[in-house]
Amino acid sequence: MKKLVVLSGAGISAESGIRTFRDMGGLWEEYDILEVASPQGWENNPELVQNFYNERRKQLLGCSPNKGHYGLVDLEKYYDVEIITQNVDDLHERAGSKKVLHLHGELLKAQSSADPELVYEIDGWEIKMGDTCEKGSQLRPNVVWFGEPVPAMIPAMEITRQSDIFVVVGTSLNVYPAASLLDYVPRGVPVYVIDPEDVSVPFNVNAEVIREKAAKGVEILIEKLTGDKK
Ligand code: APR
Repeated sequence: MKKLVVLSGAGISAESGIRTFRDMGGLWEEYDILEVASPQGWENNPELVQNFYNERRKQLLGCSPNKGHYGLVDLEKYYDVEIITQNVDDLHERAGSKKVLHLHGELLKAQSSADPELVYEIDGWEIKMGDTCEKGSQLRPNVVWFGEPVPAMIPAMEITRQSDIFVVVGTSLNVYPAASLLDYVPRGVPVYVIDPEDVSVPFNVNAEVIREKAAKGVEILIEKLTGDKK
């Protein structure tokens, strides 16, 4: 089977009721990135950071995957689909995607503040101050903050190099190194971009744009690729 690789961002979860970051009304309009999504912010006010992620985790538990997520699962009938997501939600997994790589961590997991290798499932929606890892250090969200390394980029680049089709859905391509994955798409591999807004892709990438929200855009992609009409 040909390998279809997807780079997804917050936009694919928008129709599930989860806020994006840089749209009108996005999270970064309301919160200061450095205060809630950086090591400095954690240092200065860990309670504020815990609350920011506890609120997003509580909201996520009440959300469900949308037709965009499910459409990518449908494509598994035709392709070896690998999802590389910038999202920390679990909606791709809940929709049934079998191969999901999280570049920026997972909201439903906690990690030791002393050793990022120590990662734990969270029971419920809260990480409380005083919850500690097996080494006695405070637990923090298993999320990659601005300025932190993105170890998942290594496997993500390898997966991208193996792609026969590359699909970008619901990301502004504003954040690196995630956005640099487009540099690893082999020459000649078709690239599709699904987004209701204009997204700037690198000049050397010849992308076909599907100017729709994810639910509709993925449906159109499936029809383009397989002739399969919903
Ligand atoms: N369907 C598809 N795309 C949508 C939809 C929708 N219903 N609604 C919005 N979008 C698009 C927007 O047009 C935009 O291009 O989704 C994109 C969202 O962009 P951002 O808010 O910048 O989110 P993202 O690209 O995922 O951000 C990357 O930045 O803050 C960090 O770690 C965070 O993983 C995140 C990273």
